[in-house]
Amino acid sequence: MPRYMLTINGSDAEVDAPGDMPLLWVLRDLIGLTGSKYGCGIGQCGACTVHIDGQPMRSCLLPISQVASQPITTIEGLAQGGELHALQQAWIDKDVAQCGYCQSGQIMSAAALLRRNAKPTDADIDAAMTGNYCRCGTYIRIREAIHAAALSVDATASKEAQA
Ligand code: FES
Ligand code: FES
Repeated sequence: MPRYMLTINGSDAEVDAPGDMPLLWVLRDLIGLTGSKYGCGIGQCGACTVHIDGQPMRSCLLPISQVASQPITTIEGLAQGGELHALQQAWIDKDVAQCGYCQSGQIMSAAALLRRNAKPTDADIDAAMTGNYCRCGTYIRIREAIHAAALSVDATASKEAQA
């Protein structure tokens, strides 16, 4: 069985896996990172979203052989230096989650959005998040939390600029 060297959340990991094993299975079953969820398995729900080289991707569709050379970030790697990502904090402040199942994928898609668009409009958010489904219907709070996170990042940047 082939061996793959992966970089996940800034750390190296080595796994033996068939080349066609989806990344989601590698993360959950071989590495033990279970924050990314299995929803549909066909790229339709977004529950398995991770970042591959900074881009949001559906890990249920990605064979490990195709992504092994690229940096992978999962929900477990979003917080930095013991501090929650602004989105994670906003998710708590806005009490977004209901059952929670879809939420790691939602946050990973939102994080990719904020990286390319620091002040998204409602329309930007709806367009970016359209492939992430929530059966509990938390869409309104997700949008509020993304706006709150954008404001908080903006406020932090202003304070740093003034310091
Ligand atoms: S589990 Fe990957 S998109 Fe649904
Ligand atoms: S919070 Fe339950 S599916 Fe989204």
